[in-house]
Amino acid sequence: MLEAILRPRRSVLYMPGSNAKAMDKAKSLGADSLIFDLEDAVAPEAKAQAREAVAAALRGGGYGAREVIVRVNGLATPWGRDDLAAIVPAGPGGVLFPKVDGPGDVTAARAAMLQAGAAPDLPLLVMIETPKALLALREIGQAAKAAALVGFVMGTNDLAKDLRAVLTPDRAAFLTALSMAVITARAYGLAAIDGVFNDIQNQEGFAGECRQGLQLGFDGKTLIHPAQIETANRIFSPSAQEINWAHAVIAAFAAPENAGRGVLKVDGRMIELLHLAQAKRLAATAAHIAALEQLG
Ligand code: COA
Ligand code: MG
Repeated sequence: MLEAILRPRRSVLYMPGSNAKAMDKAKSLGADSLIFDLEDAVAPEAKAQAREAVAAALRGGGYGAREVIVRVNGLATPWGRDDLAAIVPAGPGGVLFPKVDGPGDVTAARAAMLQAGAAPDLPLLVMIETPKALLALREIGQAAKAAALVGFVMGTNDLAKDLRAVLTPDRAAFLTALSMAVITARAYGLAAIDGVFNDIQNQEGFAGECRQGLQLGFDGKTLIHPAQIETANRIFSPSAQEINWAHAVIAAFAAPENAGRGVLKVDGRMIELLHLAQAKRLAATAAHIAALEQLG
């Protein structure tokens, strides 16, 4: 469970479940996680075929250490339960539910997964993309443990539509929603993954939005095109400088002459025990990323 929450998700690449070629190509892409989409990227008339294509891709494997998540259709649609029945036995690495409005939807998602034969710890993630979900974040967080919820994925395009807000380069209209989701994720120990950047050609704009997501506290970003992977991996990885700092802090607190001390000086700066906790988390993230990249 903890492992499922902490694993690196710097780059989380969506692809339509109807696109077998993209699912094949993903085997050689450097994304930490993949999302095979059965929901909005698949037209209603293609749903059944996409479901079979996703099940076949899961069974075929070849994704190495990449986490392979399937985004199913919501349980209120004609497809949600059939999606689960088809893909759960094929062995996804996780299931992502769209458009949850509150804790009831999270609980129902887990129940439907169990009903489809999923192990109780098969990672469940939910999209935060409706106004109701934003108002119910606290209750969703409170329901997370019982439902073994692993994390939030921001759906900024759906939010823009429902809020009638405009996605500008600074995402001003979304900062409250993004921050509230990160705050809730941290309060309840969940992963938090930022929304997509639609303008595939605009690498500079994309990098800026990755940096903004990092500053807001997100673990990584959802992506729509392979050209976005490298930048997301770079920006959401701890820098060499941060890793060095983390090791220096850990070493300083471990030094025998500092035993029992709560505050020290490292590189001329004050560090307290809270920095030790932060350093340990950073070092663990860096180790997780190194292990993932080693596995390929
Ligand atoms: N995942 C995996 N491979 C992808 C990909 C993705 N999301 N997007 C593009 N590719 C592949 C293409 O198949 C193509 O492969 P090839 O070189 O082997 O032929 C290559 O990358 C270049 O693709 P390109 O021509 O630049 O893009 P496109 O016009 O084929 O596709 C989109 C553009 C937007 C339709 C496509 O990127 C896409 O479907 N993105 C994901 C959309 C999605 O899932 N949305 C739901 C959540 S927001
Ligand atoms: Mg959506």
